[in-house]
Amino acid sequence: MTIVSIWCRHKGDNVIGAGLGLPWRIPSDTRRFRNLTAGKVKVMGARTYSGMPQKVLLGQKLIILDNTNQCEVFDEKNHQVCADINLLKDYPEDLYISGGATIYALFFKIAPLMPDVVVDCVYNGEISVDAKDLVDVSASVAILEQQYTPLPQRFELDNVITTIWLKKGAFVAQDVVKTILQYMETEGK
Ligand SMILES: NC(=O)c1ccc[n+]([C@@H]2O[C@H](COP(=O)([O-])OP(=O)(O)OC[C@H]3O[C@@H](n4cnc5c(N)ncnc54)[C@H](OP(=O)(O)O)[C@@H]3O)[C@@H](O)[C@H]2O)c1
Repeated sequence: MTIVSIWCRHKGDNVIGAGLGLPWRIPSDTRRFRNLTAGKVKVMGARTYSGMPQKVLLGQKLIILDNTNQCEVFDEKNHQVCADINLLKDYPEDLYISGGATIYALFFKIAPLMPDVVVDCVYNGEISVDAKDLVDVSASVAILEQQYTPLPQRFELDNVITTIWLKKGAFVAQDVVKTILQYMETEGK
């Protein structure tokens, strides 16, 4: 199993969200996320799940982490609720960690679940002026900078610079990295 974390954070403050939503509208970033994770099993927190448009998640294979036992799914065939992240340690497929901040941080803390690859998209533009209840991933970025190595390639599109980071000292499945790089080098920039 290869674990890939993917986020879009705001440069400097590492903000990724406002309340349950995003503090920006960047269609090419949404498209990059959708294409890089197409057909993959995505893991997200219950808050992110409840804040995303249902039409975007319908038909997507999702694992929703929820401690409260109150999360109701709207696509029973494809969406599965999980109350214990440790149950994912031997998951038979690659996992794409899709936020939010709580879930990114959790995966960095549990050694066997530490992402092998991080797709780090950094937005250099303005965040919405009326954005409230900001959520940031600074704690996760600190771990990224200490325990991961960036690949030399940089991809820039619509004020977002994307860098791929690999976990230091880990064997990272080359096919996964190759697929991500191929997408970034063609449609992703
Ligand atoms: N820009 C991006 O790339 C991006 C991507 C995704 C999301 N976001 C943003 O991130 C924000 C949401 O982040 P968030 O941190 O507030 O929420 P979250 O990470 O989406 O969800 C947290 C959920 O995980 C549950 N949880 C915590 N520990 C758990 C464990 N050990 N096992 C199972 N479940 C566990 C929590 O339950 P309890 O409440 O019971 O602790 C809570 O329901 C939103 O603003 C969203 O738009 C941004």
